[in-house]
Amino acid sequence: MKIQDNCQLATYNTFGIEATADRMVEYESVEELQSFVHQRNASADSSPLLHIGGGSNLLFIDDFHGTILRSNMRKIQVTADEGDNVYVCVTAGIVWDDWVQYAVDSHWYGLENLSLIPGTVGASAVQNIGAYGSEAKDFIIFVDTVDLQTGEIRHFTAEECRYGYRDSAFKHELKGRYAVTHVHFKLSHSFRPKLDYGGIRKALEDRNIDETNLTPEQLRQTIIEIRRAKLPEPSELGNAGSFFTNSIVPQATFKQLLNENPNIPHYEVDKDYVKIPAGWMIEQCGWKGKTLGKAGVYERQALVLVNRGGATGKDIAALCERIQEDVEARFGIRIEPEVNFIA
Ligand code: EPU
Repeated sequence: MKIQDNCQLATYNTFGIEATADRMVEYESVEELQSFVHQRNASADSSPLLHIGGGSNLLFIDDFHGTILRSNMRKIQVTADEGDNVYVCVTAGIVWDDWVQYAVDSHWYGLENLSLIPGTVGASAVQNIGAYGSEAKDFIIFVDTVDLQTGEIRHFTAEECRYGYRDSAFKHELKGRYAVTHVHFKLSHSFRPKLDYGGIRKALEDRNIDETNLTPEQLRQTIIEIRRAKLPEPSELGNAGSFFTNSIVPQATFKQLLNENPNIPHYEVDKDYVKIPAGWMIEQCGWKGKTLGKAGVYERQALVLVNRGGATGKDIAALCERIQEDVEARFGIRIEPEVNFIA
């Protein structure tokens, strides 16, 4: 177990926000995490506890007066191989994209469209990360956790995780209670590319890649290039990917908006609901590429807020609020952050 007091957090969050945590604890095994919980209970320590992954979905508003936990467990293990399916157990601390690369190299398919999403495997199971028509939940079968109150191991089936769009029970009723230690994935030995999401086919054409001969590695590289063209590299410009989630509104609300904005991009969710891209609404409000203090809206994707250098969490939060107000005034929709605010 690695323990650091007064830990500087700038390198632990992709926004690059400078804040301090009273303590950072990095564990190497489930047993170490359990012993941390038991010691904490024995010393009646009730200070706040926060488990982080790659820090790509966090906004530190202030210094954190408590303990931050991080997994240093790194293992990928096949648990079963049956017919077309391979079942793989992956520790939560592994970087998500390292796992995607490992899977593609191992000829285990399904995750290609989720290439280059920042963060860790553990976070993928909390956040249900998604991109280009795929979501982590499509491949997760169950999740192993440690109860941070008792130290007990508990397994959750995908159904118990209650996955939704960028959502799971770990963000609601189970919030803060369980540390994800392993995620169990079901992948396939056959490559079935998903190319329907706008932009992928065009990107393949531009690269002279014939769809019928497409390899998994080519699809992965194409997705990586599409993302790089739209999303800033955190090492160059602090950001947390999409800052807001897209808005899911009732059909009636959508019809009204469509009357006033005939070109509004949208995706049917089901017969009752429609998803409207928050990035489009933010752009319509004139925020794309704008800066407020040291915080800004990325030039190439309005859903991404960036640290223009030396921004505090409060600077980013202030920009977030201004954007929310403007979008609400113009469209009557309150857009919600996907990023977790840590106060
Ligand atoms: N749009 C604009 N202006 C913008 C941004 C988007 O008009 O500045 C419009 C686009 O023209 C398009 C629509 O909004 O019609 C959707 O845009 P895009 O395909 O770029 O995707 P998104 O909905 O903005 C989501 C995810 C991304 C993911 C992409 C690709 C969320 C919150 N975000 O963004 O995820 O990479 O789709 O699948 O669902 C992340 O979570 O960090 C992330 C980057």
